[in-house]
Amino acid sequence: MTFTADRLLLFGATGDLSQRMLLPSLCALEAEELVDPELTIVGTARSDLDDHAFRNFAREALEKFMPADRRSNLATFLNRLHYQPLDATDPDGFAALAQKVGVPKDGLAIFLSTAPSLFEPTIKGLQQSGLADGNVRIGLEKPLGTDLLTSCQINDAVAAAFSEDRIFRIDHYLGKETVQNLLALRFANMLFEPIWNAAYIDHVQITVAETVGLESRVDFYDDAGALRDMVQNHMLQLLALVAMEPPSDFDATAVRDEKVKVLRALRTVAANETVTGQYTEGAVNGAVVPGYADELGRESGTETFVAIKAHLDNWRWKGVPFYLRTGKRLQKRVTEILVQFRPVPHSIFGEKGARTTPNSLLIGIQPEENITLKLMAKVPGLDRGGIALRPVPLDIAMPDAFTGTQRRIAYERLLLDLIEGDQTLFVRRDEVEAQWAWIDGIRKEWERDGLAPKPYNAGSWGPSAAIALAERDGVSWHE
Ligand code: BG6
Repeated sequence: MTFTADRLLLFGATGDLSQRMLLPSLCALEAEELVDPELTIVGTARSDLDDHAFRNFAREALEKFMPADRRSNLATFLNRLHYQPLDATDPDGFAALAQKVGVPKDGLAIFLSTAPSLFEPTIKGLQQSGLADGNVRIGLEKPLGTDLLTSCQINDAVAAAFSEDRIFRIDHYLGKETVQNLLALRFANMLFEPIWNAAYIDHVQITVAETVGLESRVDFYDDAGALRDMVQNHMLQLLALVAMEPPSDFDATAVRDEKVKVLRALRTVAANETVTGQYTEGAVNGAVVPGYADELGRESGTETFVAIKAHLDNWRWKGVPFYLRTGKRLQKRVTEILVQFRPVPHSIFGEKGARTTPNSLLIGIQPEENITLKLMAKVPGLDRGGIALRPVPLDIAMPDAFTGTQRRIAYERLLLDLIEGDQTLFVRRDEVEAQWAWIDGIRKEWERDGLAPKPYNAGSWGPSAAIALAERDGVSWHE
């Protein structure tokens, strides 16, 4: 369905995501004239505000969360904003919302960032008030369920009102420039693809380390835990992009067809291939921080760290472990992918005393966006005492390679794609369900074995068992 929406309806408009990401992204898009001058944005949430009060609310958020040089258009942007209070559990409120949205000229884009319990009543309300009819598409923010069953229930509820080509499930990692760059690296270069398989790659590591703790999302996080909060979505999407076959086109169907094959090839993980942890008091970036239970105010069995040795049962990746780890309150904030190649089959320098280190490709996603290929080089010298070789980095710092380009937050891209209707960077139903099926398998193992998270000090790299998980295969985590 091709149309560019001229109305945008934001559910959860006064929430944290809206303040930090959605409103700043929309304001930035407008400053660059990337959205239609006619675009009207209607916010809705429970808070009893009118247009004027919502504009004030938005102004405060933008002043707080947006660099001054990106909001020169603040006044014009605020004029686009309208607001209608709504209790989504009360079906009667939707008529007034529909009236506020009015009749779009070309079409309506809806963005749902609300508590999961409000999904179903919201969809029903949209349907009953006619807001789901015609040129309408809907963006859904996570969490979309807590397991396969609840995710299917949400998907069914949405499918009752919207066809799949009108549903845009958000995984904000897909909106990150460096994540998309993974596809460029793999499929716009001849170099890597011929060796991107089990014959040449020893293993892959994916790390998503955070220094933050619970932040303000106490109940949500304690119900979710690291596996469902980070692995089920972001990390599996990264894995799928690393492991997928070349799609025939960079379009929604081709890319998602290939990703889902990878997700379905994930082998059920055994309990001894996972490690969970929970942070205790420690120091992060020089500041003492409390342990998880203290932040939470009670004891909890929720994992704030997880490491997994994953396998893909397909021809390309048979026998290549994918080590995944993510956690809160780790030593530093870093998201990166390490592709570790195999050793050369025979070293011609061995007799001359030189050791060769296998090549590796490190793809830094954040905070540093860089790509480092480690190659072996000869240490200069006359080599009377033998040849010395050393790995040297071939480094590409993306910001240096592309100076003068704007660094954007993921939601700028994703909101624009939602408004314009490009689904390539959104997650399809079959992907989400394959992701949940694998995650449910892990949780079943944990429950069967009564696995409790191991304590780790805030500011460390997680429990030592996570190091052992890789080391028993002779692998060291990249740090
Ligand atoms: C969210 C998780 O999806 O991603 C958070 O719910 C996490 O717990 C966040 O902190 C990380 O996103 P980013 O873009 O900061 O890496």
